[in-house]
Amino acid sequence: MSRKKVSIIGAGNVGSSLAAYLAQKNICDIVLLDIVEGVPIGKGLDLLQAGPILNYSISVKGSNDYKDISGSEIVVVTAGLARKPGMSREDLIIKNAEIISQVTENIVKYAPDSMIVMVANPLDIMTFHAYKKSGFPTNRVFGQAGVLDSIRFRTFVALELGVSVQDVQAMVLGGHGDSMVPLPRYTTVSGIPLSELLPPEKIKGLSERTRNGGTEIVAYLKTGSAFYAPAAATLEMVESVLLDIKRILPVSACVTGEYGLKDLYIGVPVQLGAGGVEKIVELKLLPEEKEALHNSAKIYKDMLKVLGY
Ligand code: APR
Repeated sequence: MSRKKVSIIGAGNVGSSLAAYLAQKNICDIVLLDIVEGVPIGKGLDLLQAGPILNYSISVKGSNDYKDISGSEIVVVTAGLARKPGMSREDLIIKNAEIISQVTENIVKYAPDSMIVMVANPLDIMTFHAYKKSGFPTNRVFGQAGVLDSIRFRTFVALELGVSVQDVQAMVLGGHGDSMVPLPRYTTVSGIPLSELLPPEKIKGLSERTRNGGTEIVAYLKTGSAFYAPAAATLEMVESVLLDIKRILPVSACVTGEYGLKDLYIGVPVQLGAGGVEKIVELKLLPEEKEALHNSAKIYKDMLKVLGY
């Protein structure tokens, strides 16, 4: 039986970090593709040569040719422009949509049975765009955002309490932008509700820092945006699908009435397995939480109009 294959489109910061993390899992062959001539090939070779020490023996191939993605189980899309300081995710919309159109056409042509995991921003819009352009069923097109937002929240909670991040579970819903909805009620430390460990104003502060998590890093980097945590978040999703782990993770998924929302991609908890998005999990929300989610959805519905949807 041949090994499974994951292709990563965009060999920039997020794409190549993901390739490095995924290689170390030794669970699938990897193709790293970019439009810039030579660069993905060099990075692919470089990653391959790390194998003897990091103990992986899968194939890592860099490429400028979409033919190489054929037979992929999963295609992760990190191609696009990264946010620059002062630039909102929303500013990126038109430019990145052009790139996603081109990338999606090639996925349909060369890997028609694959799943598309979108990473490019503005995330929920690009995921919707890839869904429409590909004609793939909704279970095979989803986006990475909620996992990243949740691991940021988990990190801030762990730092605040001085506990291990491994014991902190968190849930963040909504669009991957300023309107995201961290859910402290569904955030626990080894099963202990966060509300029993921190006062409301502290929790509010941590939610706020999570909301600004990407911007905080952009301000330091000056050029480019975060990539280690986004790549790690994507890794978790890829692994859950490839190994059929059925993790319940917040991802950008197409809602069809869940949470009273439809016809858009937005961050909701889903079960991720070999079937991609196998089901959307509906949490019981308080009226103010539901309102925040609907507010976020409205922002993204309006943004979709920029692309004529
Ligand atoms: N086809 C393939 N690759 C492309 C295309 C295209 N049409 N257009 C751009 N790229 C490549 C670039 O050449 C670059 O190598 O996409 C890569 C993007 O890498 P970076 O600029 O390093 O950006 P990165 O930090 O990896 O972020 C990628 O993920 O988190 C989001 O907002 C972020 O949308 C951005 C994406």
